[in-house]
Amino acid sequence: MFARRIDRLTSSLVRDLLALTQHPDMISFAGGLPADAALFRPDLQPLSAADVWQYGPSEGEPGLRELVARRAGAFGLACTPEQVLILNGSQQGIDLVAKLLVDEGVPVLVEAPAYLAALQAFRLFGARTLPVPVDATGGVDFAALQDGLQRARLAYLTPTFQNPSGYCYSETERERVAAGIDDAATVLFEDDPYRDLCYDGTAPAPIAGRLRRAHWVYQGSFSKTLAPGLRLGYLIAHPALMAPLVRLKQAADLHSNRLSQHLVSQVLRDGTLERHVAGVLPLYRERRDAMHAALTRHLAGRAHWRCPVGGLFFWITLPAGTDTMALMHRALAQNVAVMPGDAFFDEAGATPCLRLNFSHADPTRIELGVARLAALLP
Ligand SMILES: Cc1ncc(COP(=O)(O)O)c(C=O)c1O
Repeated sequence: MFARRIDRLTSSLVRDLLALTQHPDMISFAGGLPADAALFRPDLQPLSAADVWQYGPSEGEPGLRELVARRAGAFGLACTPEQVLILNGSQQGIDLVAKLLVDEGVPVLVEAPAYLAALQAFRLFGARTLPVPVDATGGVDFAALQDGLQRARLAYLTPTFQNPSGYCYSETERERVAAGIDDAATVLFEDDPYRDLCYDGTAPAPIAGRLRRAHWVYQGSFSKTLAPGLRLGYLIAHPALMAPLVRLKQAADLHSNRLSQHLVSQVLRDGTLERHVAGVLPLYRERRDAMHAALTRHLAGRAHWRCPVGGLFFWITLPAGTDTMALMHRALAQNVAVMPGDAFFDEAGATPCLRLNFSHADPTRIELGVARLAALLP
């Protein structure tokens, strides 16, 4: 009865775990949840802007597109407002780009590890993924990248504080990747929701802004900086890709939520976003440092990790042979939720890893959760 693609529709372990982690006793390192205290809460005045309640343009509110384009220019991606498409969360961008470019059997270059809900979407459309190892110690595997680019139609990369590894591509790596993509004429899909969450220095400019020839889609989100419940993100695309992407958006949901667009426009226009982020960074820096200290106290010599410069995650490598799914279940029984690393790879047999989120629990619960987790490891 279902379409053939539904055979390829896997469930997302994160969303399944999220349901379990709602209990107040649960210490959750599993999702990518912002801290409750960091969520932006606007002063909700009755809205006089009647337009918010009417159907709106598929591309998004003109004022918001303009503000997004200006902000992108400031971080190194020059573009016009006509290149901006407002999304109901950047997850929608993954769906639209997959619909635009992925047929059954189409090769898609992905990082290994990669954001699991992107793998879920590419798989649904029948992509044949070409994994490129990226890790916090060795950086990008350029031999695998060059090989993959020769074959891939689309290259999906999260170069800035990657989910899950936390890795941030260096300036040199960004230049090399841009040159490789230009040579191969693969379409770059750069996913960048963590750019503003940089705890030491500032994030390097996107790869998309360094391309000379290749087509590209870049996307960002307001979920991690303001609030995920707004469901608001955006994509910026090479002009040649805009018309079909706008049509796909029309076919998917007509347009993004206008109330959220109205709120975010205000927040961008009056500088609240920058002030809010500046307030959140010390909180997250403290939590990151608390997790690094707890890991060092309880797991030094038994696991490996790099303290991330930005984003929301630690990526922990465990001794060979550790069964991370069994570990996840034993940790859940102790009211600690963690994400097994296997979910972020398309192929079995990866080194055992865990992704630990540090933004949601406070430092006391981080210490308690890491101590409980360490007690479960040999
Ligand atoms: C790499 C990456 N892309 C996209 C998303 C989706 O974010 P949203 O739809 O909330 O903008 C996430 C969320 O965790 C993510 O980590």
